[in-house]
Order: sequence, then C-alpha cells, then structure tokens
Amino acid sequence: METNALTAPKNSSLNTSSNILNSSQKPQRIFRFGSFEPDISSDSSSEYIPNSSFFQNSIGAAVTLAKSPFTAFFGLAAAVLYYIYSNTLSLLNIEARDSSKHKPKDKPTKSPSPFNLFEMEKLDLAVIATIIVGATTFLFRKFIFGNHILRTNSIPTINIQAAPKIAQHSYDPQRDLSFKMFQNNQNVVLIYGSQTGTAEDLAKRFARELHLDFNAQVLIVDPELYDLESLSKISPDHIAVFLVSTTGEGEPTDNMAKWYEALIGEDIFTADFSDLELPSFVDPTEESDFSGDYEFDTELPLANLNFSIFGLGNSTYEHFNLPTKQLTKRLRSLGAKLVGPVGLGDDDVNIDDDFEKWTGAAAPLIAKFVSSSSTGIDSSPNKYEPSFIVKELDILPIDASIGSVRPEILENASSINISHVDSKHPWYCLPLNSKVLTHTSSERRIIHLELDLDNINLPYTTGDHVALFPTNYETQVRLLLNVLNLDGSKPISLSFSPNASDNKPFPHSISSYSSMLRHYLDITLPVPKDSIKHVLLPYARSEPAKAFLKKLIDDKDYYKNIILTPVMSPGELIQNIHTIEKKEAVSDDLKFNFTFSALIDLLPRISPRYYSISSSNLESPNKISITAVVLNYKTPNNINRYGIATNYINAIHDTLSNPDTNSDIIFTSDKLSYCLKDTRKHSSNNFAIPIYIRKSTFRLPSDPSVPIVMVGPGTGIAPFRGFIRERFYQAKNSIPVGPTVLFFGNRNESKDFLYKDELLESFAALSSSNKNSKVITAFSRDQKEKIYVQDRMTEHSALIWDLINNQNGHFYICGDGKTMSKDVIATLKRIAQNEGKLDETRASSWFTTLKNTNRYAEDVWA
Ligand SMILES: Cc1cc2nc3c(=O)[nH]c(=O)nc-3n(C[C@H](O)[C@H](O)[C@H](O)COP(=O)(O)OP(=O)(O)OC[C@H]3O[C@@H](n4cnc5c(N)ncnc54)[C@H](O)[C@@H]3O)c2cc1C
Ligand SMILES: Cc1cc2nc3c(=O)[nH]c(=O)nc-3n(C[C@H](O)[C@H](O)[C@H](O)COP(=O)(O)O)c2cc1C
Repeated sequence: METNALTAPKNSSLNTSSNILNSSQKPQRIFRFGSFEPDISSDSSSEYIPNSSFFQNSIGAAVTLAKSPFTAFFGLAAAVLYYIYSNTLSLLNIEARDSSKHKPKDKPTKSPSPFNLFEMEKLDLAVIATIIVGATTFLFRKFIFGNHILRTNSIPTINIQAAPKIAQHSYDPQRDLSFKMFQNNQNVVLIYGSQTGTAEDLAKRFARELHLDFNAQVLIVDPELYDLESLSKISPDHIAVFLVSTTGEGEPTDNMAKWYEALIGEDIFTADFSDLELPSFVDPTEESDFSGDYEFDTELPLANLNFSIFGLGNSTYEHFNLPTKQLTKRLRSLGAKLVGPVGLGDDDVNIDDDFEKWTGAAAPLIAKFVSSSSTGIDSSPNKYEPSFIVKELDILPIDASIGSVRPEILENASSINISHVDSKHPWYCLPLNSKVLTHTSSERRIIHLELDLDNINLPYTTGDHVALFPTNYETQVRLLLNVLNLDGSKPISLSFSPNASDNKPFPHSISSYSSMLRHYLDITLPVPKDSIKHVLLPYARSEPAKAFLKKLIDDKDYYKNIILTPVMSPGELIQNIHTIEKKEAVSDDLKFNFTFSALIDLLPRISPRYYSISSSNLESPNKISITAVVLNYKTPNNINRYGIATNYINAIHDTLSNPDTNSDIIFTSDKLSYCLKDTRKHSSNNFAIPIYIRKSTFRLPSDPSVPIVMVGPGTGIAPFRGFIRERFYQAKNSIPVGPTVLFFGNRNESKDFLYKDELLESFAALSSSNKNSKVITAFSRDQKEKIYVQDRMTEHSALIWDLINNQNGHFYICGDGKTMSKDVIATLKRIAQNEGKLDETRASSWFTTLKNTNRYAEDVWA
C-alpha cells in the first residue's frame, strides 16, 4: 500500500512532527526583542515567540548590555571615573564652602555646578580621565577591539579569531557554518546525513531548486566537516535545512555520527535528553554584533535557529526514520524553531515522490528566509550555472593520476593511517581469487570474491560490511561520450564555479572524460524531474526538445512511462532528445548542445555498495570475501538492465579467470564490456578495487559455546559463512563450540546450493562435537510445493525453542528485508506460542526480550 508521507491524515508519518512538537515543548524563557520575527504563519506546527512587552524589552536590553564584555568594560571604566570624580568633587565642594567664608559678600556665590565653580579643576579632571581611559584602552586594545567588528548590515558579523567556548585552541573558521555562510553571503544551509549518497544528491538538487526558483544562496554542508556548535551562530534571518538518512538499525549515518553523539548521546532510541550534557554552543552575542536583538539562553541555546527537516528511511525497517524524529525532538528541545512539516521519506515506496511533496510544502516557507524576493519559476539558460568549470588540457601532466579514488598509490601502503580508510578515503585492494557458486544452468550467478588486505592490515570483525566503489560498464560510458561528442581520452581539469553551492571536490582535479564517467559519476540512474527542469531544459533551444522535456516535467504518467518504467539512463535520455530533433529536422544552430560541466551537475556521484563480509577475521585476518548475486533484469518493456557493482564484480571474476587477457577492454559473460585496467592499474599490471570496512553490530556471541541459529537464504548466507568458518576454525583449535544451526534456502539444490562442499565439511566437524549442529536446507523449486526456510523452521520448532529459549542461544537473520525477514520473525513468534505455550502477546514480549538482550540480530537489505 502506498503511504503518503506528506498528505496522509492522522497517524501518518507527517503527524509525527506534531507529536514531536507536543512532547518536546519547553516553556519559553527567553526575552526577545527587536524586529526579527520570521513569517512562518502558514506552518501551524511551528513555534512562535510572542512580541515582548516594553518592560521585557528594557530588562532584556539591560541584560544584553551587561553581558557584552565590551559595554561592561566601558561601564566599569565610567563607574570608576565617576567615583574618582565625585570623591574629588565632594572634597572640592567642602573646600569651596570653606573658602566662601572668606570671600567678600558682594561677590556672588557661583552656582553649585562643580564645572561652573571650578573651571581649572574640571580641566585637570578631564585630562586625568583621558589619560586613564587612553592608557586602559591601549592596554586592553586586543580585548576591546580584537573580537568585535561592528557592522550595520543585517548579516551577522563573524570574527575569524573569535573562538567558540569549547575549543578555544582548535577553533577553525573553516568548520564554522555561520562563518562560511557569512563569507559566501549565503542564507540557507543544507546539511546532509548520507550513507550511500541519496541524501547527498537530494541536497545538491534542492540547493539548485532553492537557488533557481527562489534566488536563495545555499551552502551544502557535510556535517563531518563542520562543528555542531556553530549551529547556534547561524543568523535568525537564515535557515538550516536537514536532509537526514537512516542506516544500520535506526542509526544515523557515519558523516552525522559525531553530531548525533553530541546532541543525542550514544543511545538514539531514548528520547529523554534531560540528563544529557549540553554541547557547548556558542553565544553569538559574545562573538559578534549579532543581527536582530537576541538573548542567548544556555538552556535553549538554539533559540536562534530556524530549521526544516526531511528524513530518508525505509518503512520495511523497524526503526523507520528514527534519527530524523530524534533530531527534530532534540533541536526543538534546545529552542530551535521548526519551519514546515517534518518529511519522512520512504525508500520502500518512492523517496523522490515523498521529497517532491515535502519540498512543495517546505520550499516556500524556507524561501521566506531568503532576503531577496522570489523570482518565480524560470528556466532561462542564463540563470543556470554549472558548479564545475571543465577545461580540456593539451597534455596530461606526468604525475597526474586521472582515475584513482585515493591519491596514495598502493606501494605507499605503510604510510597510510588505516584509521583514515573510510568512505571519503577508500583503500585500493587487489582481488585475490574468485569463483562462481551457482551452476551454469542456474538462473542466477552468485560470485565468491576474495580481496587482499595483506598490504594494509585493515582490521575487520566477522559480521562487518565491506563497501565497494564500482566501475561503470562501457556501453553507458561510450553512449555519453557519443551524445556529448567528446573524446574520452582527453585530459581535463576541474575547478569550482565561483558561486557553486556544491563544493565537494572529485578525488582528482585532473582527470579525463572517460575516467570521470567510469569511476566517479552514476551514469545509469534515471534523471529525476527536477534535474530535467533545472539542468537539461535550459539547454533546449528547439521547440520539439523543449516540448518533450516540459512534458516530462509536467506530466507524471508520461515521466513514469518514458523514464521510470524502462529505467532510462541519462545517456539514453539525451540520445532521445537528439532523435526527436532529428525527426523534426531541427537546424544545427538550435540543436540540443549539452556540456560536460552540466552533466556533472545532472548526475549523482557513484555510491559505494555494501556487502556482508563472508569470511572470518579469526581464520583469515588478511583477506575478506564477499558473496554477491549478479543483478540482471528485464524491464516491463523487455529492456535488459544491469546492476553496476555486481556486473563489475562479474567482470573482475572473468578477468581473474583469464589472466592472460591483455586487452584493456574485457567482455563479461553477459557481453558487457568493462575497462578495468586503465586508471586503476598498479605496478603489478593488476587492477584494484576501492573499498572501506563498515563496522556492524551483527556479531557472534563472545562465548563460542553459546548456541546459535542462523536463517540465511540466497546471498543471506554471506555473513553466516563467516560465522561458520569461525566456529569451524575454533573447533579445529579445540575450543568448545556450542550448537550451530543454519537454515539455508534457494531455488534448486543442484544449481544453487552455495558453498555446499565446505558447509558439509564444516558441519561434519561441528556436529561431531555437538549433535545439534546442522545445516537445514529448503530448496523451493525442487518439488511441486514451494518450500521455504520458514517451513523448515516450523518442522524444527522444538530444536529452535530449546536452543534459543532453554539454552539462551542467539538467533540471526540475513538477506531480503522486504518479505523474508518478516516471515521468519512471524514464524519464530509462532514457535514461541506453540513450543512455549505462550499466547500471542506473551510471544511478542518474548521476542522483544530476545532483542533487548542482544540475542536477536538481523543483517537485511531491501
Ligand atoms: C548492509 C547491506 C549488505 C548487503 N550484503 C549483500 C551481500 O552480501 N550480497 C549481495 O549480493 N548483496 C548485498 N547487498 C546488496 C548490495 O549492496 C547491492 O545493492 C546489490 O549488489 C546490487 O548492486 P548493483 O550495483 O549491482 O545494482 P544497482 O546498479 O545499484 O541496481 C540496483 C537497483 O536496480 C533496481 N532494480 C533491481 N531490480 C529491478 C527490477 N527487477 N526492476 C526495476 N528495477 C530494478 C533497484 O532500484 C535497485 O536499487 C547488501 C546491501 C546492504 C545494504
Ligand atoms: C544498511 C541499511 C540500513 C538501513 N536501516 C534503516 C533503518 O533502520 N530505518 C529506516 O527507516 N531506513 C533504513 N534504511 C533505509 C535508508 O535510510 C534509505 O534507503 C535512504 O534513502 C538511504 O539514504 P543514503 O543513500 O543517503 O544513505 C537503511 C538502508 C540501508 C542500506
């Protein structure tokens, strides 16, 4: 059933925002004065700060003045001077009174004013005062002037030297959001939390939309590169927009982990922040002449911040969009004002649709924080400006490496700090060997690939994931080179356009057209509607091209039929435009003429693909293996489509199987061509794969004697192969190993029994020490009735109940998260009902206890 994240009534994901609002509202305790009141009246869920009374204003003003060190210093100096002065005065007055006794009566007594009475003394005093003030000012000149640059415009003044309280010594203006915004004159900051690139790409697209449709100046921010504390310094005239993905089991993404830890603590599941220590947010009034009168409240340090938020999640996961919900709560509890609805995008349905609905509601509200007025929708070619400037070079500089993801070369492995191997700095590892696990007659091809960690000793633990950056296949690379009329081998240099919001560099500023297309850009994902409007349409000069693109933008069904259903690639879309123009005999001067720099904006960066590591670090610490099914499918209109990473793995396998192949281009068994050897080759004339390890929570019990039950059909066997190899290795080394049960399923035993020989060997050893250790298979198509792992579980209910309930064993699921894992959980609960004689409710609580005691774990993917 399709759920509508934005329009659904009560109980829908959108309503979460109002729940959040109610549960987290704190009494307003700040005095606010001045002109700033964001107009967010159309958002009924947003917080408002009422206009304060004159009395409040006055107190607030006094408090603000007293808090400023600058005014406090002068206040003190004035008070001291006044004290000296008044004491001197009273002394002089006494003398005056006394001396008057001796004055002639006819001389009129002067007015009591000291200045009138004692001209000379007043001058002396003024001279003394000037000297004191001058000397003190000179002595404290850095304090008085160094941190305060007064400005009169509405942009907050940022002082580069002014350090936030938390990190006086390590303050880096380049990590200060507000400073960056000020420096670039930007009024919207888009902060993305992204694991596999979707949120990052949405940020890029939304920045473009806000800029082109609303004239916003947008800064795109990877929170890993900025300090959380600088959030409190964003001007109240501006707005922060969060685009936040979920990973793991309801966890924040790696690039947001530090921000979450500081804001929410290590336990994202609790919504209680009362005991949490506050991050050291900075009082902007101490650092600058902050625009809009503002009172910093240490308990509501983000009262200054306006924010909008869209979460990316998948409703098949238990903790749907949890980080987004918790972040919203936390920001609001710190006083930040929510602008617009909380968007909860669902990848199980269509995240782009959800995002479009959310932007429809949020963008106009966000635009109210943009000082210049909205310019409306206009796609004139002059307005769109690509983020990168691409220049062709005559020759490739000798030392330029045009294709590597990580600048260091393999030979320098010893100089690499392994803690720096991450998504931004993947490591090149060499493939060692591979084999096909399925029979040639199987409908699917599943590959076992081993990767060498010998050079780097990258640590991993059994159950972790490896992320792998793939290379694109040549058909799509060449199609793009062809439709853009480019020479692929031409060296190019890349630099940012002056006003680019997207400042994420490519690994190398010098590359080649084909290298960019092979290694850095995703050239197969269908082009979203907003990118057609903002990037492609400005290049359409002929009426037929404009009409075609406008129809794609305006007509949802047409877009679905032309683009989504056939999974049309960007190259094919551009080719289509050319074909339409050719058919309509468009003259050369009006033909669609797309540039490579615009193409960089049109395409997302290529994202890493995750694989469950199928080896054990105990048995093989210096190599990891993966188990991947090659993705090939036909669209409803019968077009063959190919998964990027798995066909790349297939190509690596084919290359490893034919080591004598000398050609630069290799063809896989599916006739896909790959160029693996050009830019990623190393001294050994071998090619390397960029990877990094992602820690998971999918772990064997620390005590090997604890029983385990694993359910992993298809490639869901991957981490369990690692688990079993580990237990087999322990058993061989005379370590007592507890009962080990694997439920494995696939289509046919003769074609798809993955790792059959080694499983039988391992289980022969494991079962000799424990009779309950066994592999139980379900081959769905080997008989008339379909049999799945759940059916086998039911048959072995007593064993499962005994191992998990009576012997405190651990239960694991891996593989398809859409249906299989749900069916397996339902079966497990039924086993608890039947074997444990529990009613439905108690069986559910039994399962919850299993989870809460870390005896249930899943590693599933949709
Ligand atoms: C934590 C984790 C662990 C994983 N472990 C493993 C593992 O051990 N083994 C394994 O094989 N995979 C695993 N995966 C999946 C893996 O990461 C890749 O998603 C998968 O291999 C496909 O990658 P690809 O680049 O070949 O396909 P892509 O080029 O990324 O194409 C995949 C996309 O194609 C589209 N698509 C697929 N089928 C169809 C269809 N019939 N019609 C229309 N569109 C379609 C979908 O949009 C899908 O997202 C794991 C994923 C995660 C998140
Ligand atoms: C390994 C993995 C774990 C995930 N876990 C969750 C989850 O617990 N809850 C959820 O709502 N979505 C979950 N998702 C869905 C992602 O949040 C969603 O696909 C999102 O679009 C990914 O965005 P990104 O590419 O920016 O990381 C998970 C996705 C993956 C790949």
